[in-house]
Amino acid sequence: MNQPALRPVARRLRGMATSDGAGVRLTRVIGTPQLPDLDPFLMLDEFGSDKPGDYIAGFPSHPHRGFETVTYMLDGRMRHKDNHGNEGLLTPGSVQWMTAGRGIVHSEMPEQEEGLMRGFQLWVNLPAKDKMTAPQYQEFSADRIPEAYPADGVRVKVIAGRVGDVVGPVSQPATDPTYLDIALEPDKHFEHAVPSGHNAFAYVYQGVASVAGEDVVPKGDLLVFGSGEAVRITAGGVPVRLILVAGRPLNEPVARHGPFVMNTRAEIMQAFADYNEGKF
Ligand code: CO
Repeated sequence: MNQPALRPVARRLRGMATSDGAGVRLTRVIGTPQLPDLDPFLMLDEFGSDKPGDYIAGFPSHPHRGFETVTYMLDGRMRHKDNHGNEGLLTPGSVQWMTAGRGIVHSEMPEQEEGLMRGFQLWVNLPAKDKMTAPQYQEFSADRIPEAYPADGVRVKVIAGRVGDVVGPVSQPATDPTYLDIALEPDKHFEHAVPSGHNAFAYVYQGVASVAGEDVVPKGDLLVFGSGEAVRITAGGVPVRLILVAGRPLNEPVARHGPFVMNTRAEIMQAFADYNEGKF
């Protein structure tokens, strides 16, 4: 069998320090002037601090329409509530894949006054045909996120997609996402086939990796992959942790304003009108 064509690194970027919600400090990795989006991904935020002042204000009540928000907690506890009566506690290792669809109003508030709060929020676009769908949650505690051990020194938490026989619990046919949390011991490597045509990125959040000719990729670096069949990631001389995310691009126009992501300006105006009239 032929070796799969490895995807090169097309772009290498660092996130931007910013704050959101009521003043939560975070690093915006996608959704910046440098990288406004990577179809179908609209935003990636990393939050991580053991200083309560950086996170305690949380994300009070705010709306979403037209896309999905995916929260992956690494450390800490966050309480989620929405205006449809859904409520839940995000605990370490848990994932909440929320389809906002035609609209929800929710809050995400820390349920701790001290200690480490760390994780990611990813925004995934929906195609025009699904933007006004009913809101839906796919929520999984840490023990429901399966792990794959494809080789010695390689552990992969499979949130979405498949590694060998291990299938992630999240289902989203529109974008067919892959979302893997990969831990590699020093000098070990992981190779993963990503469907050709899907956009893919890796974000290193601990340690140092080496990927496709980029020898030293430290914590905080985002790699956007070019076209090919597979990605190959090698740990540097220290353990590394990173997320690998991929999805089928929608190739639709994006009209975006704050928490609303639609296809046209008129649909954004409608979202504001509906929100103001309490129709979410
Ligand atoms: Co939100």
